[in-house]
Amino acid sequence: MESDWPQESLGIYVHIPFCLRKCAYCDFYSVSGAGPVELEAYTARLCLEIADCPVENRSEPVDSIYFGGGTPSLLTPAQLGRVIEALASSFNVQPHSEISMEANPATVDRDSLRAYRDIGINRISLGVQSLQDQELHVLERLHSVASAREATKAARLGGFKNLNLDLIYGIPGQTITSWMETVREAVSFEPEHISMYLLQLDEETPLARAIAAGNLQAPAEEECEAMYYQALDYAQHMGLQQYEISNLAMPGRQCRHNLRYWQFGEYLGFGAGAVSRIKGRRWMNRPDLDLYMLDNKANMKRQLLLEEMSPRQQATEAVIMGLRLTEGLNLDIINQRFGLDLLSAYETEIEKNIIQGSLELEHGWLRLTKAGIMVSNQVLCGFVE
Ligand SMILES: C[S@@+](CC[C@H](N)C(=O)[O-])C[C@H]1O[C@@H](n2cnc3c(N)ncnc32)[C@H](O)[C@@H]1O
Ligand code: SF4
Repeated sequence: MESDWPQESLGIYVHIPFCLRKCAYCDFYSVSGAGPVELEAYTARLCLEIADCPVENRSEPVDSIYFGGGTPSLLTPAQLGRVIEALASSFNVQPHSEISMEANPATVDRDSLRAYRDIGINRISLGVQSLQDQELHVLERLHSVASAREATKAARLGGFKNLNLDLIYGIPGQTITSWMETVREAVSFEPEHISMYLLQLDEETPLARAIAAGNLQAPAEEECEAMYYQALDYAQHMGLQQYEISNLAMPGRQCRHNLRYWQFGEYLGFGAGAVSRIKGRRWMNRPDLDLYMLDNKANMKRQLLLEEMSPRQQATEAVIMGLRLTEGLNLDIINQRFGLDLLSAYETEIEKNIIQGSLELEHGWLRLTKAGIMVSNQVLCGFVE
C-alpha cells in the first residue's frame, strides 16, 4: 500500500463518553450509569457544539466521521442520525465519506445495526477483544463469546460491508494457544479490518491493581511478542494486510479516519474529551461531562489548548506518527510538506537504528523493520526533540 498523503481534507471525531459499565482495563474517558434523559441531553448538546463551531473550518471537504467512545452504540440510531445531520448542515461532508462507529457487542442486535446502517453509518468496529469467555471475564467485559459471535453475524445481516474487529493480547491468563484460537475465529468471520492491541494498563485501573496485588499475572513480554507475530503471520496468510503496527485490512479497506492520524492530517473533535488538531494547533474539550453540558457561550473553560506546534515540531510529530505505518515515511513528502530533510536532520539516530536492524531505508522510504516494531517505542522516542 502506498497511500496518497498528505491529505487535503478534514476528519471529524465525535466522542460518546458513556458505557454501561467500566471494563477493568480501560482508561478512555467514559462514565457509566447514564439514562435516556442524559443521552438525549448529550445528543442535543453535541448538535449545538457542531452548529457553533468556528466558521473557518467549515469549507474543507470532510471525508471521514468517526463515532468513538465510550460506547457510541448507547445512543439510538435516531440520536446519532441527528448528529450526522448536524454535521452535514455545518460542514462540507462528502457523499462517499467513511462514517465509522465503535460498538460494544453487548449493546447491538441485527435490528439496531440495520437502523445505524440506514442513517448512513457504513463502517462498524466491534469491541470483541477475545473469543474466550475466561479472558472476557478477566477484562470485565459485559458480553460473552456467544454475544460477540452474534454481533458479528448481526453486523452482516444489518447490511454492514465494512467491519472491524478489535482484539486484545497480553490478557492475564491468555496463552499463545488461546490467543491464536481467538485470532483464527475472528479471521474466519471475514472482517475487512482487524485491530490487535497489546493490553496497556494505566496503574489506576482495577486490572492493573489486581496484577500489582499478585492476584493475576500478565503473560511475559516474550510471550506477547510471539502472540503478535504469530497473529500477524496468520492474518496475512489469510489475506489481511498489515498497514500499521496494530492494524490490518483487506486491500483498500484501511480505516480512512485513523490513517489521517498517522499521516498527520487535520481533524476536529466534538464531545466531552474529544481532541482536535488543525494547522499545528492541538486542543481538546476537557474530559468533564458536567462542564461540557453547560451552555456553549458561557463555557469558555470547556476547551483546553494542548499545544501550538512550530513547523519543526509538526515535522517531528509527522515522523513519529508516520513511522507507525508499514509503508513508512516517504522522505520526499516529508521534505515537501515540512521542509525537513529527514536524513540529515536525524542522521545519527537513523544510522544507529539501521545498524541495529530497527529501521530500513529503501527507495526513498524509511520504515520500521519487523524487529523494529517490537522496540518501536524506543525507536520513535529517538525522534522526539
Ligand atoms: C475506545 S474503545 C471503544 C470500543 C467499545 N467501547 C468497546 O469496548 O467495545 C476502542 C478499543 O480500544 C481497545 N482498548 C481499550 N482500552 C485498551 C487498553 N487498555 N489496552 C489495549 N487496548 C485497549 C479495545 O480493543 C477497544 O475495543
Ligand atoms: S473498553 Fe469500551 S466498553 Fe469498556 S469501558 Fe472502555 S470504552 Fe467502555
